[in-house]
Amino acid sequence: MSIAFAAMRRSSYTICTTWTATFHLRKMSAESLAAVTRLKDSGFIKTQGLVGGKWVDAEDGKTLKVENPATGDLICTVPYMGQKETSQAISSAYETFQSWKKLSGAERSKHLRKWYDLLTAHKEELAQLVTLEQGKPMKEALGEITYGADFVEFYAEEAKRVYGDLLPSPLTDRRLLVLKQPVGVVGAITPWNFPLAMITRKIGPALACGCTVVVKPSELTPLTALAAAELALQAGIPPGAFNVVMGNASEIGDTLLASPQVRKITFTGSTAVGKKLMAGAAETVKKVSLELGGNAPCIVFDDAELDVAVKGALAAKFRNSGQTCVCANRILVQEGIYEKFANAFADAVQQLQVGNGLTEGVAQGPLINEAAVQKVESFIRDATNKGAKVLIGGKRHSLGMTFYEPTVLGNTNTEMLISREEVFGPVAPLLRFKTEEEAIHMANDTNAGLAAYVFTNDISRSWRVTEALEYGLVGVNEGLVSTVVAPFGGYKQSGLGREGSKYGIDEYLELKYVCLGNMKSA
Ligand code: SIN
Repeated sequence: MSIAFAAMRRSSYTICTTWTATFHLRKMSAESLAAVTRLKDSGFIKTQGLVGGKWVDAEDGKTLKVENPATGDLICTVPYMGQKETSQAISSAYETFQSWKKLSGAERSKHLRKWYDLLTAHKEELAQLVTLEQGKPMKEALGEITYGADFVEFYAEEAKRVYGDLLPSPLTDRRLLVLKQPVGVVGAITPWNFPLAMITRKIGPALACGCTVVVKPSELTPLTALAAAELALQAGIPPGAFNVVMGNASEIGDTLLASPQVRKITFTGSTAVGKKLMAGAAETVKKVSLELGGNAPCIVFDDAELDVAVKGALAAKFRNSGQTCVCANRILVQEGIYEKFANAFADAVQQLQVGNGLTEGVAQGPLINEAAVQKVESFIRDATNKGAKVLIGGKRHSLGMTFYEPTVLGNTNTEMLISREEVFGPVAPLLRFKTEEEAIHMANDTNAGLAAYVFTNDISRSWRVTEALEYGLVGVNEGLVSTVVAPFGGYKQSGLGREGSKYGIDEYLELKYVCLGNMKSA
């Protein structure tokens, strides 16, 4: 479909009458409420924090509302915790660490494997919970549960493979060894965009190698974390090994940072908060892993296969309604393919069905909250004021609430905020370039360096460009690259350390060099 036709279809959305939108919302509410009732009845909605294996309220009784971003409905409340509860969770994690670290890797592996089995057995309920509190469509939520559970399975296996080393000694009466030991109590601060997977990607390896954890899930999506923690208890992971506190984010963060018993902070979220955590961790010299913001370029060369590039860019941009750190943030298109790509891409975006994630066939859920919608609106305003053209979308969806139309902007350039900052929403800006050199320069011209995508049929170019990109992850002719077996992490201000894969467990281990001296020869 041409851009002009796409624009015509766009205007037909605007004649949706108010009663239609209200009808949709009522229907969505009914669907959501039925799911909440089912999950409450089957015990999947936990409304307390987990400290030392006990379900507890905030000491002062304060609570926090958890709302469905698709409907605005209140799902339930959870405790609004702070310094006191976090200190108790740290003490409990520290005490449990003394025994958990002494189990063999094979014993820890059995518990993690059981946890994986339970996560998998309950993937439908967990996915519904993710959709209810986060908004992503059920298909994506189910994908996240599988992805999240796979980290637990992978590190259940890795628990048995934490090898040390025997070093060649320069002196014949010495034997030199390297032991790998768990770092200790880990504070894990996780985001709302992947309420399960960002937890298991951190605590899978931590628990596997003998660490214990205090998790602070996002206040927007604590329910999946609490349900996963309940399943971990059922799997026999000892009380105190996995604690969950939520509420006052800065008080919880400061308590984790100040405690000498916490030896590691792992965080996924914004670059601004990551920098604060890194500075705070300096006081007690904790290890730090940071998965921060991105500004992913998606480069489409003239020689790319059009269908592959459209499909790849669509997946890279619109997964989770554009709310991932690896989402394509800027689509750089070479001038020879620009018009064809822009038409085909806008056409594909037009087909994305927007709605409540619980509804069959929906491909784009709501944004997480009103602030996220306002941020998207301000980027679009800035871009159109500076000459960008809306090819499709460009406004709030007729469903209202936090729904935004999947949007493609043409004529964007590097002066616009949208190509310089992380959008975290369903808007794809297209930027034109002439040469390979120019594309590499544009791609690297940012402080971020998490994910990049390249579409080309020239194998030499794919290598050249991949090697020149200052990014931790590169997808070549592929828009969805995340997997348990590959290292996830960024260059530059996108973070420190790697998660997942055989490398991820090293982030939770200390190396201890042992020198055995005065060994008598026969
Ligand atoms: C993220 O957005 O931080 C995670 C995305 C992924 O694991 O693919």
